[in-house]
Amino acid sequence: MPKLKVITFGCQANELDSERIAGLLASQGYQAAEAMEEADLIILNTCSIREKAEQKVYSQLGKLQILKRQKAGLVLGLSGCLAQQEGERLKKRFPCLDLVAGPQDIGRIPALLAQARGEESYLPFGNEDWHGIEPCRESRIKAWVGIMEGCDNFCSYCVVPYTRGRERSRPPEDVLLEIEGLLTRGYREITLLGQNVNSYGKGLRPPVTFPELLYRIETLVGGRLWVRFATSHPRDLTPQLVEALAELGSLCEHLHLPIQSGSTRVLRLMNRGYTREDYLARVNLVRSRVPKISITTDIIVGFPGETEGDFQDTLSLLQEARFDNAFSFKYSPRPRTAAAAFPDQLPEGLKSSRLQGVQRLQAQISLEKNRTLLGREVEVLVEGEGERGFLTGRTRQNKIVHFQGSGQKAGGLVLVRLEEAFPYHLKGRVVT
Ligand code: 5AD
Ligand code: SF4
Repeated sequence: MPKLKVITFGCQANELDSERIAGLLASQGYQAAEAMEEADLIILNTCSIREKAEQKVYSQLGKLQILKRQKAGLVLGLSGCLAQQEGERLKKRFPCLDLVAGPQDIGRIPALLAQARGEESYLPFGNEDWHGIEPCRESRIKAWVGIMEGCDNFCSYCVVPYTRGRERSRPPEDVLLEIEGLLTRGYREITLLGQNVNSYGKGLRPPVTFPELLYRIETLVGGRLWVRFATSHPRDLTPQLVEALAELGSLCEHLHLPIQSGSTRVLRLMNRGYTREDYLARVNLVRSRVPKISITTDIIVGFPGETEGDFQDTLSLLQEARFDNAFSFKYSPRPRTAAAAFPDQLPEGLKSSRLQGVQRLQAQISLEKNRTLLGREVEVLVEGEGERGFLTGRTRQNKIVHFQGSGQKAGGLVLVRLEEAFPYHLKGRVVT
């Protein structure tokens, strides 16, 4: 049987796409390869969100070019956002590439493969019907469930609407059927995925909203597994969604809500559709209804024209919102996006020092937040072995916890007393 290796870059949506690619090719007879060297087909599933993500792909491609020279018959493919963005240009630049398919073309990969082998393709050319593709999942505990694809927001910095296309929502019946299958296979956690999950339902007939989908999922799973979702846009965080978070027992107490900047002026330039005050009001509403909620965010520093004052607004926002964690990035101009053509692009050095400022402050806040949890007994979903005999897992708040194991198995739920706090994880002891 031919062997396949998929190498994934980027976000959770890409991780799911890699599982879809593996699922699709399993139905064509491909088996997973452990090591790159044993693969007959290698697919790089790429990301282009920032320049750095692109560079990682190019350096991996350089290595594969050498491998291909050594191994006759090795087929190389490129999928994902960079494939969509650079398309055929990449085939010219890297003649070692046999096929290129964007995130909307995953269904076409078998046909493209046949074409690359010079075969007459008898396979249907496919389309973007990713709904029907059964992912070949990496984990037996946690599963990604795609509920929508694409994005209509056109934030001025973001390449995603160009790579993943317009928003398409998956019918609720399909989503529920997939979750039912995961329940029977004993999965313990699902994460509903989409670029903008809380605008789920656009274009569906009969109409259905994201909170309505969550209530239907709750009825189905009834506490048998944990439910998470990512990513939400602050503008679409409705009171109904907050109520769902407060009421539904399966929904974990965690919300990833990217703010991007603490300056209303910059938010306007980013085309985000909310002000600093709108955002804070929503965070306060969520916290008043779900006191245990942990909230995480994304921050971009060094957006074109970001002044020292704007940057200070971001720092003060972090102080005010006190996120459990923040993922922060230096602004990177992306092809076709509006902001790439904005005047006043900031020098790299300034972006770096601002990034450091954000990261230093957030590490301190994250540590303080984690310290408030010390002494508590929390449920941990065991994911596997960590370092030096420790087991590792996550809480419903999505906190990473390391604890000394004594026979607990991956997929099990254990009660852990939290004893030591760090910025990005906690340590604890199993309560017997
Ligand atoms: N430059 C830097 N960061 C970006 N992000 C998206 N586009 C860019 C860009 N051009 C960040 C945002 C988003 C996260 C996934 O990546 O913070 O929420
Ligand atoms: Fe990268 Fe964005 Fe594409 Fe995910 S959707 S792979 S983060 S560019």
